[in-house]
Amino acid sequence: MTTVSERDVQLLRDALGPLRDREQIAERLLDSSAKHSFDPDKELDWEAPAEDGKWFWPPELVSLYDTPLWRKMSEEQRMELSRHEAASLASLGIWFEIILMQLLVRHIYDRPVTSNHVRYALTEIADECRHSMMFGRMIKWSGSPDYPVPRVYHNLARVLKTISTTPGSFASTLLGEEILDWMQRLTFPDERVQTLVRGVTRIHVVEEARHVRYAREELRRQMVTAPRWERELTRLSCGEAARVFSVCFINPRVYENVGLDRHEAVAQVKASGHRAEVMQSGAKRLTDFFDDIGVLNGVGRRLWKRSGLLA
Ligand SMILES: [Fe+2]
Ligand SMILES: [Fe+2]
Repeated sequence: MTTVSERDVQLLRDALGPLRDREQIAERLLDSSAKHSFDPDKELDWEAPAEDGKWFWPPELVSLYDTPLWRKMSEEQRMELSRHEAASLASLGIWFEIILMQLLVRHIYDRPVTSNHVRYALTEIADECRHSMMFGRMIKWSGSPDYPVPRVYHNLARVLKTISTTPGSFASTLLGEEILDWMQRLTFPDERVQTLVRGVTRIHVVEEARHVRYAREELRRQMVTAPRWERELTRLSCGEAARVFSVCFINPRVYENVGLDRHEAVAQVKASGHRAEVMQSGAKRLTDFFDDIGVLNGVGRRLWKRSGLLA
């Protein structure tokens, strides 16, 4: 007869615990998805034209805000810049979401198809799918061109989304979601901003809250259970992702398109104390969490500091 020792039972419990948690969390997130999901095509008035005298993005969150160049610009030109920056951020959002959809599909490929965890991942893919259509529609509505990231980063992400391991995928997901989310939380209640942009950001904030929860819980689990090499790789790839993210955040073509000198504008944004503060405040919730679960140890911290997102 085989006897099972106390220690075996404990080992089994430890191994199953995270899986049980994972199922319970996914169940709660599925509940929340059932209650708070939106169809942007029906929810928002896409026929309404842009309102005169309103911003497309809160001025304080526009990259050049409070720089010498900003002080020389007319109010009209500043608002124009906000229109192009909103489109640039929406383009970045779509890029991220398309990457994320692929990462999620890869994440569930080997997992039990009837689990809550997989069902929730599919729900999130459906959310992101609607978001990307919504952002695309918003860019078109605003009359601005779209702003793809530079080719080299577009291709770098092609590699990442194909080979990245689970913790690396969730860490970069959070990077993409949390900073934009922080900005959108300031945008949707702001009455100076276009009604349609407020509607888009409100939908995104509501649906994004559960995505952040899902990614955080999974990354926290992974940073305990993943082998050492994978945790090290996550620190490295996440730090590199932070650098790429801050380089790609605003496409410099926006400056040319409002009649500014691109190099001068980029240099002034880089030198802007206000901008550094905005980016670091936006990243704060995320960097605190990463610090807590050990993503910022060693080389990770150096890369994050270099990206300008960590003070
Ligand atoms: Fe999204
Ligand atoms: Fe998301």
